[in-house]
Amino acid sequence: MSDRTLAPFGRRLVRVTEHERVGAYTVLGCSDPHGPAPDPGQFYMLAAAAGWGGGEDERPFLPRAFSVLRSQADRREFVLEDVGPGTRRLGELRPGDGLWLLGPLGRGFVPPREGRTPVLVGGGVGIAPLAIWRDALGPEALVLLGFRDAEHAIGAGLIPGARVATDDGSVGHQGLVTDLLAPELGGVIEVYACGPPPMLEAVRALCAEHRAPAQLALEAGMACGFGACFGCVVPTRDGYVRLCVDGPVLEAATLQSVTELHSHPATSGVR
Ligand code: FES
Repeated sequence: MSDRTLAPFGRRLVRVTEHERVGAYTVLGCSDPHGPAPDPGQFYMLAAAAGWGGGEDERPFLPRAFSVLRSQADRREFVLEDVGPGTRRLGELRPGDGLWLLGPLGRGFVPPREGRTPVLVGGGVGIAPLAIWRDALGPEALVLLGFRDAEHAIGAGLIPGARVATDDGSVGHQGLVTDLLAPELGGVIEVYACGPPPMLEAVRALCAEHRAPAQLALEAGMACGFGACFGCVVPTRDGYVRLCVDGPVLEAATLQSVTELHSHPATSGVR
């Protein structure tokens, strides 16, 4: 028996059902009647059914990897930010448009160890896997989110009750989300984090210092998404792993440094 939800073989063509602007982000919803419900922290490879290419010869883009934001019955939601041609094209999709979907893929979060209270820490678009995980854990899970400015901080509304930090102080605490995490480390907690590499590295280092277990959802450029291309290999204390099958969620204790991973040529993020 598998300890993860397995994707049906091959990609499937589904329909976009929802396009909503949430501050600097777009929430894209689709109907996925033939796929299983994902585990929190799993991801999907997405590609627009039409116009998915660039340059004069319209060479197709690789699909882009996205953690699932929310899942209910046969509906799946993803959150994206326009940071490059792939995310821009996906952000142009509207209800009724076709979307290629492959997933759910990878290994998600595992429940907190006995007696530990979950604390979810997110940065920017890294809010995605924390929303579905909070849905599963319930409202007792504390959620701490960090954003660049007020427009991005509107994204915090995707997880009701979240405490917010912004770089410019326009919403919530002025400073880093790790400023909000630090006082919580005196408790018996387990940390779940997703966000940009410097934030994840700060979370990893703080948790190591306070001996708090942490699970980190890592961002990576995925080519195939199911273990075939070895394009997402990263070093850990236990040897090399493929982030798309052994992650994207890894135990922080297995990593020497998150920023070191992101200097690795295989990990380039989602654009
Ligand atoms: Fe191909 Fe991971 S993306 S092996």
